[in-house]
Amino acid sequence: MRGWLPWLKAAVWLGGLAPLAWLGWRVADADLGPNPVQTLEYFTGRWALRLLLVTLAMTPLRLAVGRPQPIQLRRLLGLWAYAYMCVHFSIYLTFDLEFSPAKLADDLVKRAFITAGFTCWLLLLPLAITSTQGWQRRLKRRWRVLHRLIYFAAGAAVLHYGWGVKKDRSWPLLYATVLAALLLLRLPWKRWSRAILRAQTIT
Ligand code: HEM
Repeated sequence: MRGWLPWLKAAVWLGGLAPLAWLGWRVADADLGPNPVQTLEYFTGRWALRLLLVTLAMTPLRLAVGRPQPIQLRRLLGLWAYAYMCVHFSIYLTFDLEFSPAKLADDLVKRAFITAGFTCWLLLLPLAITSTQGWQRRLKRRWRVLHRLIYFAAGAAVLHYGWGVKKDRSWPLLYATVLAALLLLRLPWKRWSRAILRAQTIT
């Protein structure tokens, strides 16, 4: 199973690059529909969210399979998710705002869904910077505490999606349900049930 890791990493690289290549193809083909900017934002935003959820799925998966490989893939997946977020944010800054800091400030104040998306992006920035082993060693226990920001960032991302859509909220609701399930799976249920059993046998 250990020998699988390079293959799994190659699959993650492929999984991260393939949607971008697909998008590049559509851009080159001028096949982005009647609202190209929106198409670009939707595409990159959805992939950012999907990859963020896949990153969060790695810990429950490790518990399910009892192997370390999912954890060894987590950093790469998280960085891919962040790369999509940066592309998504850049498209908005370039085409919606034309690089205007004043327009950004205005949107952050007036549009709650932009505030939520930006919060997610900002919360994940220190995680992306400190994702290396060097930072992990330097920060020790604080690294783990810092990296818990991912839960809040994921919540903000789902809110951004839910508040951003105008009509049918079924997709954001589905993503919110998946996120809730992933967070519930991370809770130390076994430790708690053992503690309850111990307390019951004492009393
Ligand atoms: C950095 C700050 C961000 C800004 C300024 C931003 C901006 C936008 C904009 C303008 C749209 C299109 C809304 C529309 O035309 O209806 C959008 C959609 C979306 N964004 Fe973001 N976003 C940000 C961060 C994020 C992050 C961090 C994620 C995910 C982790 C994300 C995921 C999405 C999704 C899923 C959609 C909707 C796609 C759909 O409706 O199918 N965004 N965002």
